[in-house]
Amino acid sequence: VRPARCVVAVDGPSGSGKSTVSRRLATALDGVYLDTGAMYRAVTWAVLQAGVDLQDPEAIAKIAQETELSIGTDPVAPHFFANGTNVDGPIRGPEVTGAVSAVAAVPAVRRLLVEQQRALIAGTVRIVVEGRDISSVVAPDADLKVYLTASAAARAQRRSAEDATDVAATQADLARRDRLDSSRATDPLRQADDAVEVDTTGMGIDEVVSHLLDLLNSKAHS
Ligand code: DC
Repeated sequence: VRPARCVVAVDGPSGSGKSTVSRRLATALDGVYLDTGAMYRAVTWAVLQAGVDLQDPEAIAKIAQETELSIGTDPVAPHFFANGTNVDGPIRGPEVTGAVSAVAAVPAVRRLLVEQQRALIAGTVRIVVEGRDISSVVAPDADLKVYLTASAAARAQRRSAEDATDVAATQADLARRDRLDSSRATDPLRQADDAVEVDTTGMGIDEVVSHLLDLLNSKAHS
């Protein structure tokens, strides 16, 4: 059964399966998908293009304000533009990945993007939103709040299979980003009190998606 309207929040650390699961869930719901990480990545791309010092939060915030984002919400093929340039490729590259935690830690950047995220969500009927602070900050009234986890080894394995990188190096990089994302002062990654934790270690994608659909259905009938 497909709910008439719904907002699903999916948070969790890198490599927990958030993106794949969120896109599949959005498709199953015949809804749209919002990748908030891609928004932080697109702003980071613009910051790097501008050659701004990553230690300068004011300069970063200024670039964020000046950057016009276009965020695709098609769960099958989301496309992202910053100031009219397609950034689908570069936002997944090592430069952006290495700098994004610093940009995402700037409070003014978060305020700006959270506002845009709420506006995007308000304009939709069924949406799956993935990030780090969706349940806690962006959409605390979501119909279903999920916190996806997986063991560090499983997360590194998935990521390195995606990027064809070394598993040990990937695990170290994920640990570094988790540490930065969890320890920042503004809206750190954390499990919201009322979020359902789903440990995806050893679970297949279909299994996770049907589990989430069951959770959504049981919520709708409770
Ligand atoms: O999910 P991802 O790897 O694309 O996220 C990129 C970075 O953006 C990650 O380091 C955490 C940050 N992020 C955030 O702070 N808040 C969000 N809602 C989404 C991502």
